[in-house]
Amino acid sequence: MNNTITIALSKGRIFKETLPLLEAAGITPKDDPEKSRKLILDTNHDDVKLVIIRATDVPTYVQYGAADIGVAGKDVLLEHGGEGLYELVDLNIARCKLMTAGLNDFKPGSGRLRVATKFVNVTRRYFAEQGKQVEVIKLYGSMELGPIVGLSDLIVDVVDTGNTLKANGLKPMDHIADISSRLIVNKASLKMKHDRIQAMVEQMRKAVKV
Ligand code: ATP
Ligand code: PRP
Repeated sequence: MNNTITIALSKGRIFKETLPLLEAAGITPKDDPEKSRKLILDTNHDDVKLVIIRATDVPTYVQYGAADIGVAGKDVLLEHGGEGLYELVDLNIARCKLMTAGLNDFKPGSGRLRVATKFVNVTRRYFAEQGKQVEVIKLYGSMELGPIVGLSDLIVDVVDTGNTLKANGLKPMDHIADISSRLIVNKASLKMKHDRIQAMVEQMRKAVKV
């Protein structure tokens, strides 16, 4: 294990909303991932680097210690399962809800429902807890299209304003979980680089807006 602290972030809302929290911990990236093609960004500290990856890959990098720290949505963490990492701080950013949704005129029939989602584990677990047998269809995005084209009866996706559902003639149905992004840390890194990581975590925790 080297001496660098590597932080895994995804582009877009997580990067933007994590930036002020990193600043509070005295960390300033030297590049803007929206403009740079670099996947590893230097910071004002020689021993702190950022890796810019897909949101769904963040827990995997942290689990295997390829990154010491990461910021990931609770939706992505629920789907990943959380092995090999600690979820230390609720950063209260990128807030939304994980929900089921269907067409405005959806009525449950007697047959087995088909549910399209990128959250297949969460979806199987949720419907099993409800005592409902469903067929889960894995998609990688644009889940809202599923019910429109007859691919599925329902979807499971994150909902914020509800505008995307509305624009596609869908309605939010069951609330599965409240979602926000979490600061996650590799278990071995927390032991090996304890003091530096702990200090960073505490500074970020203090900067969280409630
Ligand atoms: P990937 O690139 O891996 O497919 P993604 O496109 O879902 O992931 P983002 O859109 O950046 O990545 O979302 C990152 C996280 O932000 C999600 O995991 C979720 O927790 C949260 N999120 C997603 N959509 C919204 C939204 N509309 N409003 C608020 N938070 C959201
Ligand atoms: C997410 C999600 C929904 C949408 C929900 O997509 O997959 O499609 O946001 O947000 P809403 O309820 O406010 O419409 P995406 O990451 O593409 O959202 P973005 O366009 O805001 O980036």
